[in-house]
Amino acid sequence: MTADLSRHFTTTVAESDPLIADALTHEKRRQQDQIELIASENIVSRAVLDALGHEMTNKTLEGYPGNRFHGGGQFVDVVEQAAIDRAKELFTCDYANVQPHSGSQANLAVFFLLLQPGDSVLSLDLAAGGHLSHGLGANLSGRWFKAHHYGVDPETEVIDYDALEAQAIAVKPKLMIAGGSAYPREMDFERMGAIAKKVGAWFHVDMAHIAGLVAGGVHASPFPHADIVTCTTTKTMRGPRGGLILTNNPDWFRRLQSAVFPGVQGSIHTQVIAAKAICLGEALSEPFKVYAAQVQANARALATSLGNRGIRIVSGGTDTHLVLIDVGTKNLTGKRAELVLDRANITSNKNAIPNDSPRPPEWVGVRLGTAAATTRGMKEAEFTELGEIIATLIEAEASSTVDDALADCMARVARLCSAFPISEAT
Ligand SMILES: Cc1ncc(COP(=O)(O)O)c(C=O)c1O
Repeated sequence: MTADLSRHFTTTVAESDPLIADALTHEKRRQQDQIELIASENIVSRAVLDALGHEMTNKTLEGYPGNRFHGGGQFVDVVEQAAIDRAKELFTCDYANVQPHSGSQANLAVFFLLLQPGDSVLSLDLAAGGHLSHGLGANLSGRWFKAHHYGVDPETEVIDYDALEAQAIAVKPKLMIAGGSAYPREMDFERMGAIAKKVGAWFHVDMAHIAGLVAGGVHASPFPHADIVTCTTTKTMRGPRGGLILTNNPDWFRRLQSAVFPGVQGSIHTQVIAAKAICLGEALSEPFKVYAAQVQANARALATSLGNRGIRIVSGGTDTHLVLIDVGTKNLTGKRAELVLDRANITSNKNAIPNDSPRPPEWVGVRLGTAAATTRGMKEAEFTELGEIIATLIEAEASSTVDDALADCMARVARLCSAFPISEAT
């Protein structure tokens, strides 16, 4: 073996690429030193990380287990079949496709399966917590399909199911979608499924955010009400970046295989499928149920703590991992609040709230999620303290006294971070 070749197999990123190695080291440190409250994030297990960095990444495969377009797929077949079986068991359904490279790809495959360009879709408005892959004009789903959106009741900020039914009757969508990325309450899948049935629409639940809560048994399952379900394996699922498609409709099993490949994707991300199998196996375990219940309890504690300090909670509370706050009542934008939290090492994101400005810089919401910090071991007491720190920072920003409050808030965050380490962080 030449020296060059030997180096190819042995040189570490630290030795070969200092720029990237440095960024990787800093990212790991950042995760230890900050409290992650972005609702779509989590901290994966060592086992998931091992799979993501495994040589299985070298393998190219198209097709499905036992029926591939390339040779040498016998071990990937083992992991893909395990992922399929575990997804079916976890979500009690008859079909699972574990290949979508992301949640958006999973949704695109559903559109490809069920719709023709120009068909009507009815989904949750982005400002009410919907997702861009459900028909936003700037996304292919909104460009090629006719998207209509339902909102929330202006008073309760919860979906008004009577209004939704009236809209569905008027619009007659071919596909009705439930689910979103910033809707903190549990949706009534039974009622929504009945509305879809009444108007002759397929009912699609995109449970990307809440899949881990469904898996852990603390949130209602979309089945048997949904015709088709998609999710990501990130967020509350605590797995690798990627998507799943689930259904019980036997007419779609074969068609879904081809809707994903070759419909919207080519070869699979083999090492990610292995990581998905591990994540799904973890989600079947008893400790995952404990984690899911804690994620939800922590969100409630955070909402209560913030509410007690006079921060307005959109919809008045939460049933999930997600708390949406309105900082407009403090004359702040979401961006300003996000930045002040960031200065104290709390990571969050600005978000639209119901009836918000269409311009992101003017949004007055901040979205907070409890999954990642729950994975670190934080419980209600820590989330109550976090609520107090966040409220203090927001009030200080509103009264231009951040410099007085910052040092103490940073010290409190640092204490929490060192009390709940992400192991191996250096
Ligand atoms: C409801 C919902 N669907 C789909 C997605 C898209 O997932 P991805 O970012 O993997 O494409 C998200 C991501 O935040 C989401 O919240």
